[in-house]
Amino acid sequence: MHISVDENSATLHALFPTLVYQSRPEGHHEYQRAFQEEAQRFQFQTEPGSGGKHFTGEYHGQILLHQQASLRPFFNTLAEHVSSYLQVLGMKPAFFEMQCLKSWFVVCPPDSDGDNAIVMHNHSCSDISWVYYVDVPEDGPVIRFHAGRRLNTAPFESSFHYDWKNEEKSAVDKLNWWNRDTWSIQPKTGDLLMFPGHQLHSVDANCSESMRTSVAGDISLVLREEHLNLEYGRTASRHWLTLPLSQ
Ligand SMILES: [Fe+2]
Repeated sequence: MHISVDENSATLHALFPTLVYQSRPEGHHEYQRAFQEEAQRFQFQTEPGSGGKHFTGEYHGQILLHQQASLRPFFNTLAEHVSSYLQVLGMKPAFFEMQCLKSWFVVCPPDSDGDNAIVMHNHSCSDISWVYYVDVPEDGPVIRFHAGRRLNTAPFESSFHYDWKNEEKSAVDKLNWWNRDTWSIQPKTGDLLMFPGHQLHSVDANCSESMRTSVAGDISLVLREEHLNLEYGRTASRHWLTLPLSQ
């Protein structure tokens, strides 16, 4: 990136960015119908205690949506988008196959109290995490990504302090790519987001007047059989030896 500030010009090198993938897969109405039919099989008890007043399938052990035959068309499409994501990252998708580890509903009723937010977390066992927005209100909450650490661009601790009550007292003149430690995306119905599993994120409270239904999932990338001779990467779970650990 090239910039000019006053009489000076400079070339800026943006190092080590995080890439979040946002797309709107074709066939949404088919996938939406399949997910809504699948949702009827579950008894969603939205209740406090699972990180807010919402239902998270992961919290209740309902994490295997990817095994439902009716949802296979969606997961086939998801695989295509994972391939696109890896291509943007400059990887070779043909070396890998993806294994769906978990996938679950997140159902959040409207709550004017604003206490149904999903707190900051990551999906530590996941290579790539994704969210598909089955049916979300236009004025629904954002998903918020967090740097979770001191920003690489900060010259000193608190150098990007922003005073929300009095901008004149802020160290930051304008919020931009370099000084923000959070970034939010307003998802729309039919959107698919993908991001690294270790990426910290949260969801604001659903202060709209509508139910919000999304599906989240975790993906592991494993080596294809013909590439087991590589020195990197994980083997598929069918090759593993699984043993219980003693008490
Ligand atoms: Fe999450």
